[in-house]
Formats: sequence, structure tokens, C-alpha cells
Amino acid sequence: MTKQTATENIHWHDSAVTKEERQKLRNHKSCIVWFTGLSGSGKSTLANALDQRLYQSRIHSYVLDGDNVRHGLNRDLGFKPEDRQENIRRIGEVSKLFVDSGSIVLTAFVSPYRSDRDLARGMVADKEFVEVYVKCSLEECENRDPKGLYKKARSGEIPEFTGISAPYEAPLAPELTISTDETSVEQSVQTIINYLVKQDILDEKGV
Ligand code: ADX
Repeated sequence: MTKQTATENIHWHDSAVTKEERQKLRNHKSCIVWFTGLSGSGKSTLANALDQRLYQSRIHSYVLDGDNVRHGLNRDLGFKPEDRQENIRRIGEVSKLFVDSGSIVLTAFVSPYRSDRDLARGMVADKEFVEVYVKCSLEECENRDPKGLYKKARSGEIPEFTGISAPYEAPLAPELTISTDETSVEQSVQTIINYLVKQDILDEKGV
């Protein structure tokens, strides 16, 4: 039997309910808020605080987090550049489905390569991708070291660790930059909400 190519004999099936109709039902638009930054910079903390704040305002959001997704969907992937690329590609595709379902998806992945992030950006419409650079010096991340991973990376126990023995390419033109060593979690969440209101994704009266 010959192997089928990925899309051969598979036909796209349009949804009976459109994205616009789903958004109308929810009273807000959908998008990806893409947090990127070093391990320990505060991506998951910010994503979860924003998620909670949106939930309280009855806005449908969901967090996809690197550490969690790597336990399930992406458990077959490591940290080589090609594995990280596939990690981000899959997250981009999953996030696109969330956007189509009318949700606001908050992704917290190191996503160290610009080209991988740009690939994810290209999967949705311009206004649907909000890149948030979670900026924090390596020194501060290493001081925080919440999971003890920097220590292991320095001793050589973890190879190809972002910031130590693997690169991090900071965004050149992110929609937002948040310096977590200077700004409180509450302030940062408010900055993101303000941006989403300004972009007409959220209704000012709804948050
Ligand atoms: S990404 O580079 O592919 O985007 P992802 O966000 O999914 O990374 O996973 C990063 C998390 O895995 C880090 O927060 C850290 O807890 C853990 N980790 C384990 N090994 C590494 C490594 N070599 N580089 C970076 N993070 C690692």
C-alpha cells in the first residue's frame, strides 16, 4: 500500500457556524495573546492572571502552557531547534482552532526563534495575533530560578537550555513589551486588557 500524503484525499469541510457568529454569541472577538520570553520571565504567571481576570468578566479564554502541553500533545518533543519548531507549529495550529471557536487563547511558550513565532503569526489574521514580549534579564530569571533549571543548565545537566546554551531571539516588533522586573502582575494584566480594548477585541464596558 502506498503512503498517502498529508492532504491527499482529505477535503476541507466548512463549518455550519462561522467564527463571526460564535464571536457574536460570546460578545467579544477572539485572538491569540502570544507570550514569549525566557524560562522564569513570568509568562505563565501573566497568562494565568489574565485568564482569571477575563473569566471574572465572563470572557472565554484559555491558557496553553509549555510545561503542560509538553506532558500531553507534545510529549514526543524535546528542545532541539527542530523540536521547538514543531512544538510552536502545533501550538499555532491549536491556537488557530481556538480563535475559530471564538475564544481568546493565551499561549505561554519560550518560543525562542523569531521564525517560529512568525509562522504562528501567519496562521491567523493580522489583528488576531498579539505578541507579548515578557522581558526579564537573564540575571533576574536565573535569580528567580523557580524550577531549579538554570542551576542544572549551568552545571551541564540540562543541555541546550534557552539563555544559557541555546539562543533566545527577542521580538523586534511585538504588540506589547512587559518588563516583569519593573511592573506588577496587576499592572501588566491591565496593560494587556487596555490593548485588547483598543484593538476592539474586548468591549470596554465588558471588562
Ligand atoms: S519552547 O522553546 O519549545 O517554546 P516550551 O515553552 O515549550 O519551550 O518549554 C519550556 C519549558 O520547559 C521551560 O519553562 C522549562 O521549564 C522547561 N525546559 C526544560 N528543558 C529546557 C531547555 N533545554 N530549554 C528551555 N526550557 C526547558
